[in-house]
Amino acid sequence: MLDSALIDALRQARHVVVFTGAGVSAESGIPTFRDRLTGLWERFDAASLATAEAFRADPALVWGWYEWRRSVVHRAQPNAAHRAIAELAGKVPKFTLITQNVDDLHERAGSQNITHLHGQLERPRCFQCQHEPDSPLPVPDEPEAGRRVQPPACAHCGGPLRPGVVWFGESLPMEAITHAFQAAEQCDLLISVGTSGVVYPAAEIPEIAWRLRANVLHINPTPGPLHGERDFALANAAGVALPALIDAAFP
Ligand code: OAD
Repeated sequence: MLDSALIDALRQARHVVVFTGAGVSAESGIPTFRDRLTGLWERFDAASLATAEAFRADPALVWGWYEWRRSVVHRAQPNAAHRAIAELAGKVPKFTLITQNVDDLHERAGSQNITHLHGQLERPRCFQCQHEPDSPLPVPDEPEAGRRVQPPACAHCGGPLRPGVVWFGESLPMEAITHAFQAAEQCDLLISVGTSGVVYPAAEIPEIAWRLRANVLHINPTPGPLHGERDFALANAAGVALPALIDAAFP
């Protein structure tokens, strides 16, 4: 049974922010960051591969890991949660989608104007001169977890291409984080979906909304502790909870 205060909060909201993490893509078969890495990747720790130091030390190992992730994403399809988020945008007066995900499943579900806080797998750039290649990279046919792949050379300076994602220790894109903080300050409902909320500064976004008196809803099979007032949780998979919430609010 959905809380009637939550349904009212969604019905009455003038500006809804949806803030997503890896859990929103879990039902599409994309492992979340803090899942145990599968197959050959069991030996590696995601956090230690997602750094400039790791790339410098072993570019083929890191590039190979991102090529594997890219091929997994390429073969995946958006799920009911991605579709519900795209649908919700058309049901409320103002809507902002902010994601920590580097996949393109929100785009492929039909969402528009997506703010990618942690970059995008499909936007590689040169590790040395930042030049972005003109044409998209070919997608590997089959995922080969653990395969080392030499990064392609930059057409501009010959340096190695790197994934277009934010690595640990790097700053978030200024425009994206500014937009996300502004939306969190201005919204009256923030729905946080499938994020463990441990990676800052992104994890501050629901906190900011709550402190500035917005309602906040966490959708996560294992939600964290709640503040109490104006703070809601649906302890369920995103692909179940989001469509149910939208159906209840906009029958
Ligand atoms: P995490 O892997 O930390 O957390 C995923 C969350 O999704 C967990 O809290 C799960 O309980 C939840 N979850 C799992 N299945 C779900 C489902 N079906 N529906 C809803 N929730 C589900 O992923 P993020 O919070 O996105 O950063 O991680 C944040 C950042 O840490 C990532 O963007 C990445 C990583 O390091 C960078 O790459 C910079």
